[in-house]
Amino acid sequence: MSGKLRETAYAKVNLALHVRSRRDDGYHRLETLFAFAREGDTIEAEDAPDISLAITGPNAGALCNDRGNLVIRAALALQAATGTGRGARLSLHKRLPVAAGLGGGSADAAATLRLLARLWGIDAADQCIAAIAATLGADVPACVLSETCTGGERGDIIMPFADPGIAGKPTLIANPGVALSTPQVFAGWDGKDGGALDPRGWRNARNDLTASAIRLVPSIASLLELLKEQPGAEVVRMSGSGASCFALFGSIEARDAAARRVPFWHMATSLR
Ligand code: C5P
Repeated sequence: MSGKLRETAYAKVNLALHVRSRRDDGYHRLETLFAFAREGDTIEAEDAPDISLAITGPNAGALCNDRGNLVIRAALALQAATGTGRGARLSLHKRLPVAAGLGGGSADAAATLRLLARLWGIDAADQCIAAIAATLGADVPACVLSETCTGGERGDIIMPFADPGIAGKPTLIANPGVALSTPQVFAGWDGKDGGALDPRGWRNARNDLTASAIRLVPSIASLLELLKEQPGAEVVRMSGSGASCFALFGSIEARDAAARRVPFWHMATSLR
């Protein structure tokens, strides 16, 4: 029997997120630029007759290990799609805050798909995973890739995007400690189309969910101000539907100095 396999569920940041319109299916049409931190949650798996999940880590308390958990849903979906008779004993180390705009649940689901494709030795794993990913959540396809990419429509139509200013960029991600419901934040969008996203101009782009998120969690505004005040902060923005915000820095020293001044949950990292 092989031993444990491990994957990182890389934290997702939306470097830009333009909301263009409401769709008839309750979703919104987006133009977004996804990037990924080098760190995140970790998931381990080993062979077992059935699928099970244990959750540890600083944010474990916010999750249940039932069939609603995205890790279990991803595992069951892959098991059904491949017809494998195998299961897996999964363990999730939950480091990222939950409902935080960092794609934590989506990244966990995506990492589970990558991990079980390896553990179960699935043929044509990429096609199989691609067929399942978007059914688990709009940003799961981007999280499966976990490389910088643009996202269109619900965020699930992805295209790789290369920019030498992104890979390796020192990044501080911070969260004021209040969970935000993604549907509620989208529901508060003002319906005004602020225009298309040119991904090459992401530094001067927007997150169109910021105003709605701030109405629900006013401390996001002070977090953004605090990050903007930090010496060396080049781009400061909210990620996804919040409440997490990020700042990109020109140097690791500037990032780490800023991290010492942020009195909230934070992760000092770099972009992949
Ligand atoms: O696909 P996912 O389950 O991650 O989306 C959660 C919720 O976020 C959706 O039910 C919807 O309310 C909102 N959403 C949206 N438009 C998107 C993505 C998500 O309205 N493009």
